[in-house]
Amino acid sequence: MKHHALRRSAAMLIAAVMLLSNHRSAGAATVANLGCEHLTNPLGIDAEKPRLSWIMADSGWGPAARSQKQSAYQILVASSTELLRQDQGDCWDSGKVASDQNIQVEYQGQPLASRMQYYWKVRVWDQAGKASAWSQPARWTMGLLHATDWRAKWIGLDDSAKSSLGTAPAGQPTQDARRLPARWLRKEFTASRQVKRATAYYSGLGLSELYVNGQKAGDEVLSPGLTDYTKHIFYITRDVTQMIHAGRNAVGVILGNGRFYAPRTGTPTATQNYGFPKLCLQLEVEYTDGTGDEIVSDASWKLTTAGPIQANNEYDGEQYDARLEMPGWDQAGFDDANWAPAQSVAAPGGKLVAQMMEPIRVTGTLKPIAITEPKPGVFVFDMGQNMVGWCRLQVRGPVGRAISLRHAERLKPDGTLYTDNLRSAKATDTYTLKGVGREIYEPRFTYHGFRYVEVTGFPGQPTLASLEGRIVNDDVATAGEFACSQPTVNRTYRNVVWGVRGNYRSLPTDCPQRDERQGWLGDRSAESRGESYLFNIAALYANWVRDMADSQKENGSLSDVCPAYWPFYSDNVTWPSSAVIIPGTLLDQYADTVVVARQYPCMVKWIDHMSGFIKDGIIAKDSYGDWCVPPENAKLIHSKDPARKTAPEILATGYFYHCLKLMVRYATLLDKPDDAARFESLAGQLKAALNGKFYHPEEGYYGNGSQTACVLPLAFDLVPEAERGRVFNHLVEKITGETKGHVGTGLIGGQWSNRVLTDGGRADLVYGFATNTTYPSWGYMAKQGATTVWELWNGDTADPAMNSGNHVMLVGDFIIWLYEKVAGIQGDPTTVGFKRILIKPTLVGDLTWVKAHYDSPSGRIVSNWKRERNTLTMEITIPANTTATVFVPAKDAARVSESGKPAAQAESVKFLRMENNAAVYAVGSGSYRFQSTILESVK
Ligand code: BGC
Repeated sequence: MKHHALRRSAAMLIAAVMLLSNHRSAGAATVANLGCEHLTNPLGIDAEKPRLSWIMADSGWGPAARSQKQSAYQILVASSTELLRQDQGDCWDSGKVASDQNIQVEYQGQPLASRMQYYWKVRVWDQAGKASAWSQPARWTMGLLHATDWRAKWIGLDDSAKSSLGTAPAGQPTQDARRLPARWLRKEFTASRQVKRATAYYSGLGLSELYVNGQKAGDEVLSPGLTDYTKHIFYITRDVTQMIHAGRNAVGVILGNGRFYAPRTGTPTATQNYGFPKLCLQLEVEYTDGTGDEIVSDASWKLTTAGPIQANNEYDGEQYDARLEMPGWDQAGFDDANWAPAQSVAAPGGKLVAQMMEPIRVTGTLKPIAITEPKPGVFVFDMGQNMVGWCRLQVRGPVGRAISLRHAERLKPDGTLYTDNLRSAKATDTYTLKGVGREIYEPRFTYHGFRYVEVTGFPGQPTLASLEGRIVNDDVATAGEFACSQPTVNRTYRNVVWGVRGNYRSLPTDCPQRDERQGWLGDRSAESRGESYLFNIAALYANWVRDMADSQKENGSLSDVCPAYWPFYSDNVTWPSSAVIIPGTLLDQYADTVVVARQYPCMVKWIDHMSGFIKDGIIAKDSYGDWCVPPENAKLIHSKDPARKTAPEILATGYFYHCLKLMVRYATLLDKPDDAARFESLAGQLKAALNGKFYHPEEGYYGNGSQTACVLPLAFDLVPEAERGRVFNHLVEKITGETKGHVGTGLIGGQWSNRVLTDGGRADLVYGFATNTTYPSWGYMAKQGATTVWELWNGDTADPAMNSGNHVMLVGDFIIWLYEKVAGIQGDPTTVGFKRILIKPTLVGDLTWVKAHYDSPSGRIVSNWKRERNTLTMEITIPANTTATVFVPAKDAARVSESGKPAAQAESVKFLRMENNAAVYAVGSGSYRFQSTILESVK
């Protein structure tokens, strides 16, 4: 995580320098974590009214102090650090605003202009009207807001014949036909005066790296993020001031294929092909005398494909021949006489927009734990962890020697790689040595999901130091931690964390290893809420829902995969419903109303389109069933177990009902009462029809009574009140009888079941799911050696082509359960963005302790509890400017203490009521230590 530390210390340095020159009153800073559009000091944004946020920090009067509240704030936004230092907000001075809002505060100042830099700070007043010091300054810059700002042209080479590997015979796509050589582009220019500021705005598609005067600019990899390039194209803004000097300069870009050139051919489905890689770049140099120069991509640039990256494809790997390296290609004075002029090429069609989310970076390095040699000269490295990224190879050897690195998640019994589950992805990187000293290689334009690496062609005997695993994913901040006294639960938690972050590839993918890696909507519907406790996904998911809108057809239909690289317009309900469900997650977890408003037209259009399939109050459109439900016989394919099947009408009508209820909420929020009434009335019709046609009052269940057929109506509040108990009991009987305490739901039911059971008073059953180590369970996977979560509950015994070792969909609502139910950290549903918090732990099974925290938008929430015989201790922290309702499990409120005092007398603690064997308190911010006597003691 070295670069994290570097970045952090660089940021601290900037802050310190800014602080030194900032005359401010003595005392600790009290406002911190300034954010803009969910990001820290972002460059090149294009939001017209960026949303600002901050937290009241814990030094001085933050969470450690009780009942801290913001009563007012003042924001200053200035066009220079100088003005900001003088407390002059020439762009915006909000004045003192009486408000407790500290997140999603919209900029309300002068219109923001392309390229401008904005510096800002904020101060707050507490509940007693006492002002804090000004925060440390933060900044953002604007990108290019108008199409007319772009004078750069798209350039590239629309030709595969230039591939040194040749093209495939007509009609016969081969691996090599998918693997174009990288395009290397360069341009020299003279900076005629002293440089004040230099900024590169660029988009190199599919993937690109920018080099200036011999150095890579920026630390992101696999950039820019994925989009449907005919709709939106991300550009990157990079400050290169320090890299440009007066005199001759050179700028270079390497272009890789990414999802651009022939990402996959016909298998397993026709994939959207965007043609050949291309570049649009505008480097704007401002001189200290107020003049400037602009270097833009055009036909004056030079291009070659004869560089060392002879072939690259995200799925298949990279082929690098170090003999072809071109030292100095990105520096002035390089002889590019045998490079060709770049071609002017057609624009991809989409609108250039700022990439307003964390880039992908190398976020860590793993050392292998073992090497074996299952066959002479075939070495297999074990990374000890199913990871996502690539390897860094270190080697000495003769010129021309080719070393091949093949990646896989599993081994065959003979110790060689098992690659059936990669389908057609070759996942192979090849390095050809130049034969000079110690050579270090890591690929750029590919990534793999793997635990094992097969190395062939290595000169001599490799050692553990020959290879390292480089972890590559969206560099999203960790949001929470959870640990408890039960090792199987902790193990699964870690497996989930690895799987979730490995599947962030500028969008949440289904899997990182096989020839798929797509943004399948269904996998993340409710599950995304769980992810929000692991990582800050506000920007990532806000972007992904835009991909959903981009995929929408004129008639309202949404693709099951977004961006629609795989155009699956099957008009089922469950998968596309993520387009309605996920904005709700962003609203709940981050108070993001802007995303709801932005997505609203797309949601309405989809709802209206799908409503056309409703017949007599029932919608039966379903494509995938309760995907990957565990079959009783573990050898069976999941869809072949009739008892576990849930009727399409129940899945689709249930989900559509849930979506309609969410639409009512959004319409109300956006002040569209007519829409709200329309959705409410349609929802009512669906509810009546589902109960009329699928509920069996004699049996007390829906459809065939599968677990999911009980879970959904309970989760979505479709069951008539008087019948809830019976449906719940049926679910419990199924779990204890048919599945003997094991999971009996697939991707759909599993996203709700743990909460339904817990809310119904049977958290013990969920605890059983979580601690089982027999099939089917997460613990079973871990026992078989899984270090991530499998695609199939029976991933070891079923269809080999469908057993990704790193899928997140079967996580279901397990992470939500751990945070919201077991640790009991939850946003109060009467507010959004954790303005009010619920702390409501569930003491379950033989758990003796839990430690959890979550970095909410207003600051860290902590919930630790431990049980010793019949004494419960709860240590909780509530961030400043929020309040909480705390449920302390207790026999008797009179015996509850807080920090040693009777709770009723404690500062900032107000007893509300007894409820279900818990004493309920209203508390303000601060740290609390509750102790109580509980009914049940643990053994
Ligand atoms: C993907 C899943 C996806 C499913 C839908 C699979 O191939 O890996 O994650 O949801 O197809 O059918």
